[in-house]
Amino acid sequence: MHELYPKASTHLVPLDVTDKALAKKLSSVTDERIDVLINNAGLALGREKAQSARFEDWEQMIETNITANFRLAHTVLPWMLRNGGGDIVNLCSIAGHYTYAGGTVYCATKHAVKAFTRALREETCGKNIRVMQISPGMVNTEFSTVRFGGDTQAAEKVYAGMTPLMAEDIARMMTFMLEQPRHVVIDEIITMPMDQGSPTTIARSLK
Ligand SMILES: NC(=O)c1ccc[n+]([C@@H]2O[C@H](COP(=O)([O-])OP(=O)(O)OC[C@H]3O[C@@H](n4cnc5c(N)ncnc54)[C@H](OP(=O)(O)O)[C@@H]3O)[C@@H](O)[C@H]2O)c1
Repeated sequence: MHELYPKASTHLVPLDVTDKALAKKLSSVTDERIDVLINNAGLALGREKAQSARFEDWEQMIETNITANFRLAHTVLPWMLRNGGGDIVNLCSIAGHYTYAGGTVYCATKHAVKAFTRALREETCGKNIRVMQISPGMVNTEFSTVRFGGDTQAAEKVYAGMTPLMAEDIARMMTFMLEQPRHVVIDEIITMPMDQGSPTTIARSLK
């Protein structure tokens, strides 16, 4: 990344993206200049059907995946416009394209991200702001452990007998998007592991 932006400096600021005072806190550490927003924070909680899901989980997914994601864009966009441009990469999901039982609200949040990305892309057209999105299938991160409330055995089962994507695969694709010449916008990358054909079609070799 530093090759792309040789003058870039890095500040690590641990923040809760659902904090309503996020804009103020960010503005004090960034001097209201952000060239690249990677809107990554997000989570799925639970795989229960709607009638037995915890409503608090739904609220947390909506607050993180939708409200906080949109708040970050709302904060950063005026700065990008004022500073002459920037790049926004939203973390969507194949759950923004498909739906599956046990994923009502997670899928709904990612469909919302997809709609927001598309509309923002239209609004910023011609303003030197590239709005892009990456929509992965199964990536072996903390995602499933978080989804199953810290139950690592349940999380391991998600990837049993198949080869998932790794975080590095997504980072490499993001870098590819950002490294394109300024006139090139990769609207979206939809990516799944070889062993996955849809959220529910997974090839496993189980002993
Ligand atoms: N893994 C997959 O299969 C998959 C597939 C499609 C899309 N995605 C999307 O990819 C993105 C990254 O997920 P991941 O797979 O890397 O899962 P992960 O390993 O659980 O990482 C999620 C990240 O989001 C951060 N986060 C969650 N809530 C936050 C909050 N309120 N404030 C600040 N940070 C918060 C977490 O920070 P802490 O660690 O500090 O909590 C963590 O860094 C998410 O948007 C997810 O929906 C993942």
